[in-house]
Amino acid sequence: MARTAVITGVTGQDGSYLAELLLGKGYTVHGLMRRSSSFNTERIDHIYEDPHTPDRRLVLHHADLSDGVALVNLLRDVRPDEVYNLGAQSHVRVSFDAPLYTGDVTGLGALRLLEAVRASGVETRLYQASSSEMFGSTPPPQNETTPFHPRSPYGCAKVMAYWATVNYREAYGMHAVNGILFNHESPRRGETFVTRKITRAVARIQAGLQEHLYLGNLDAVRDWGYAPEYVEAMWRMLQRDEPDDYVVATGVAATVRDFLDAAFGTVGLDWERYVRHDPKYERPTEVDALIGDASKAERLLDWSPKVHYDELARIMVEADIRQLEAELSGRHVRVDR
Ligand code: NAP
Ligand code: GDD
Repeated sequence: MARTAVITGVTGQDGSYLAELLLGKGYTVHGLMRRSSSFNTERIDHIYEDPHTPDRRLVLHHADLSDGVALVNLLRDVRPDEVYNLGAQSHVRVSFDAPLYTGDVTGLGALRLLEAVRASGVETRLYQASSSEMFGSTPPPQNETTPFHPRSPYGCAKVMAYWATVNYREAYGMHAVNGILFNHESPRRGETFVTRKITRAVARIQAGLQEHLYLGNLDAVRDWGYAPEYVEAMWRMLQRDEPDDYVVATGVAATVRDFLDAAFGTVGLDWERYVRHDPKYERPTEVDALIGDASKAERLLDWSPKVHYDELARIMVEADIRQLEAELSGRHVRVDR
């Protein structure tokens, strides 16, 4: 029987890769997107199907994680086998400027979705996009038993959503899992996250269109993986008979400086000539080091990462150069082609 999935945040980086993955597996995918005054579907335009297409397998719905009743109605109509909650205000720095909004969408939004599953009476499996940001100041390596100490409103909201997911599993027997994913990037990464900000700048500096790149803390350590590999882990979590929580990471540590080396090195430039400091990009409380131990996912999901930060930097720089060249020549180009 063909299966049906709902994805919140389908227009985001992970939502777009997950939709592709599930369509490739024969699922019908219902994607929830926010209403926007301008188009916000660039990452999924290549898989978009016109509403008049018979038997289409990608169906988009306007919905917002702040609207619990709409979530109930949607689940009741669609009756999905699997729900992936990827929607969030996902930017850590922005969460300090918009803490209540972040708490509402990223934290309470997950709770609204859990309640919507209950209220709609639909038997479904649910994936919650939890985050390594929950570990905050707890030193690495971090795994499923590491205590949380969030350092941002975003991290606090994700901790709330994590525990709500565990609670609904324990209280109502819901098949709900947390994927605790470490940073994962791609050519579809939002332009204001540090990796994409760097790789776009490399393309523009090389083309003579930009002189400097302003950044904040270059000493932060992250464990950067490749988003298409990480959405595969999400799917594998929901295929297990027993719901559980899993860390997904590469285990490889790199500083922002290391990523700068790799990205500028792809085109033979020395980043120290171009990068300037702007305290505006620092956070009131920083997460110094995230390095994941994904041995549980490797053992139980048979999942392991192949792309590490240096190859990731090369993939992203090359994609940004192609995209810039296409823009300059007036051609439209997909974000990752
Ligand atoms: P992203 O690119 O920022 O995508 C977030 C998605 O959520 C977008 O589709 C966005 O819509 C949607 N959204 C925002 N506010 C919403 C609202 N009020 N109602 C419904 N949808 C809303 O994030 P991502 O990198 O794909 O990450 C996916 C999920 O994993 C997020 O929950 C994130 O917090 C979590 N996570 C990410 C990472 C990572 O390194 N990427 C690591 C751990 C956890 P628009 O397109 O309209 O903005
Ligand atoms: N965004 C940004 N911009 N970050 C900068 C900059 C800058 O100009 N300069 C330095 N950084 C540092 C940040 O201080 C942080 O330590 C690191 O680069 C990574 O920042 P982001 O790329 O914004 O990612 P993040 O680690 O804060 O959060 C991402 O990963 C989480 C998982 O650990 C997001 O994707 C979250 O949604 C996700 O949960």
